[in-house]
Amino acid sequence: MIRIGILTISDRASQGLYEDRSGPAIAECLTEILSCDWQAVARIVADELPVIEATLRELCDVDACSLVVTTGGTGPAPRDVTPEATANVCDKLLPGFGELMRAVSLRSVPTAILSRQTAGIRGPSLIVNLPGKPSAIRECLLAVFPAIPYCIDLIGGPRLETHPTIVPAFRPKPA
Ligand code: MTE
Repeated sequence: MIRIGILTISDRASQGLYEDRSGPAIAECLTEILSCDWQAVARIVADELPVIEATLRELCDVDACSLVVTTGGTGPAPRDVTPEATANVCDKLLPGFGELMRAVSLRSVPTAILSRQTAGIRGPSLIVNLPGKPSAIRECLLAVFPAIPYCIDLIGGPRLETHPTIVPAFRPKPA
């Protein structure tokens, strides 16, 4: 069974001060995109660097998530540390993910450039940061998803299949 981590990073949502809407929006969007069976492993944590790092390690190494999608903590505010936590647990960063998501988001909000969102590889797992706004989830995930199945193939993960009408998975043909 393919497992996908959904990590909400928010001081207030982790304290129950407001309802987490971004985590469920990620699950809903993945359900729309994926045609293969998969299982969500959902977590909510505060904006604390060691806690975020430990949760990312656990989702990858213990829960064996092939993909981990985070939401929140990517901005410039003092407690926004998600990209640092991601970089600290990854073997390699994939800056193209952040570049594309910022470019796409910039069409709807000028503040898209405030997101420092990134992505990277930890062993056979891919970690992708999304901003915290529920409205950003679908926009960002649909933009980068065409490259995700091939990326997971390349790092030795399971084969992800998508609904081509929602997101065609791009797998380059061998030369
Ligand atoms: N991207 C999209 N698609 N939609 C948005 O509303 N908000 C921006 C940016 N990216 C936004 C977006 C804003 S205002 C900020 S501060 C950053 O994401 C960081 O948000 P975060 O700290 O909640 O991750």
